[in-house]
Amino acid sequence: MKGIFITLEGIDGSGKTTQAEKISQWLEKRTGNKTIHTAEPYILREFILSNKNFSKMSDLLLFLADRAEHVDKIILPELKQNHNVICERYNESTLAYQNFGHEIINACNFPEPDIKIFLDINPETAFSRVRERNNCNDKFEAEGLNLMKRVAESYRKLNLTRILCDNLNENDVFNMIIAKIEEKIS
Ligand code: TYD
Repeated sequence: MKGIFITLEGIDGSGKTTQAEKISQWLEKRTGNKTIHTAEPYILREFILSNKNFSKMSDLLLFLADRAEHVDKIILPELKQNHNVICERYNESTLAYQNFGHEIINACNFPEPDIKIFLDINPETAFSRVRERNNCNDKFEAEGLNLMKRVAESYRKLNLTRILCDNLNENDVFNMIIAKIEEKIS
């Protein structure tokens, strides 16, 4: 079976990592393909997130450069071997967070995922989770609740498979995600 490429989007604290791990285990059993769990930013993570003085244009270009490396070194080689790839954050993170430069992003022509999941959660809930984890240490998290609200609104305007997570527990969210994946692959 051909490898499946799934991206997971959502604001910080929306549960992407937990769900990506669960999806990864499930998809490996379901398809019999090796499944890779990866995330962006990839190789330039520390460089981008710790530098608070970059211009918005530099941030945009750095996230795209990071993606170009990720696609070239991980995503495409894995898909070529018919492995599944679950990736936390991808093009829609750049569209939602940087919120400009759509033409530049499109011009990069990065491979299109088979399914793009958006974990839609109330920004207040996500913000209190992030604060409990006490790791508001990247420059985007440090901008706090207002940024989260703006990013959540931007995500809602994009063409994504939206999972409404409010009032659902981890397993409910997972079951909704796998139902969407099943629709796609069966
Ligand atoms: P990180 O702590 O790596 O991941 P997460 O919050 O998903 O657990 O933080 C990544 C940060 O980078 C996050 O605040 C969103 C931001 N980001 C962008 O602004 N644009 C992008 O294109 C990507 C990939 C991430």
